[in-house]
Amino acid sequence: DHSPLAYSVGITLDRFIKLKQGDFPFASGELSQLLRDIALAAKIVNRETNRAGLANIGGAFGQTNSHGEEQQKLDVIANIRFIRALSKGGEVCAIVSEEEDAVIDLQNTSGKYVVAIDPLDGSSNIDVNISIGTIFSIYRRKSPVGQPIEQKDIMQPGHQQVAAGYVLYGSSTMLVYTTGNGVNGFTYENSLGEFFLSHPDIKAPLDGEIYSINEGLEHEWEPGIKSFIHTCKTQKLQSRYIGSLVADFHRNLLKGGIYLYPSTLKNPSGKLRLLYEANALAFIIEQAGGLASDGKRRILDIQANSLHQRTPLLIGSRNLVHEALINLNIKQ
Ligand code: AHG
Ligand code: MN
Ligand code: MN
Ligand code: MN
Repeated sequence: DHSPLAYSVGITLDRFIKLKQGDFPFASGELSQLLRDIALAAKIVNRETNRAGLANIGGAFGQTNSHGEEQQKLDVIANIRFIRALSKGGEVCAIVSEEEDAVIDLQNTSGKYVVAIDPLDGSSNIDVNISIGTIFSIYRRKSPVGQPIEQKDIMQPGHQQVAAGYVLYGSSTMLVYTTGNGVNGFTYENSLGEFFLSHPDIKAPLDGEIYSINEGLEHEWEPGIKSFIHTCKTQKLQSRYIGSLVADFHRNLLKGGIYLYPSTLKNPSGKLRLLYEANALAFIIEQAGGLASDGKRRILDIQANSLHQRTPLLIGSRNLVHEALINLNIKQ
């Protein structure tokens, strides 16, 4: 129902955040404000994304990031927009971003939160108008005051997250997040500039008919991955791989499925980054009843020892991830 009335009774993100604030004991509203700051940045990046082709902000920026990846202009713009929104919001004391080599100390000494962010996920898809996203994790700082401490405040294991989410700039723009009490999805209504609750209490189907992996790297997979993907094919699962983790993850979350980025020759620890890609989606998938593993361990239990460390990632429907792990641990 798209009648104006439907929207008037829809719950906006702001109202939802306020409603849910009661879930936190001694809620002082800081996390709520932080979520609003992220939503604001998402609206701005959404507008930049939609204009990329016209405002010649598409294409390469002409520099590479710490991963040797050629930064796209929108990578850099999204990075700046999120950092600026979080800096102005005042709730965040430090940020680790895919697009910044070092931790950014926002000098918000009263900021109780730390954010890990992939400002723009799926950069290779920007110029060809395929869905891209933003991924974020939120932690409470552990050190009481002063300059945030990298090991203690920034590189916390994923199970310490207080919130996590992603924005999907797709056929519609969605914000999906969890604060540890389930997963909720909001769809952006451009004409009103508001996110409306569209997918309450998302649950991942326990089984699925979809597997997502870059088949071009098949010759580099370890035996367990090869045997699992072979099983997927004999069981006639559908192959769907967009090349934007957020888009592949979101489709599999709603429909059921598994996304795999295993160890490869080029990336022996996998390509995806633990702090600002794997951890956030692992928190979300577990809250939705699914699983996320590096092939041996639960993603959320991994203790990071470097900011941009990579991890293999198997994530999605519980039974599919479980099946993949059986293959991996038998065929080691
Ligand atoms: P990013 O654009 O943030 O660097 O992430 C790209 C990631 C992920 O979004 C996607 O699923 C994966 O890279 C695709 O990697 P391949 O092109 O190697 O399959
Ligand atoms: Mn990148
Ligand atoms: Mn990414
Ligand atoms: Mn990125």
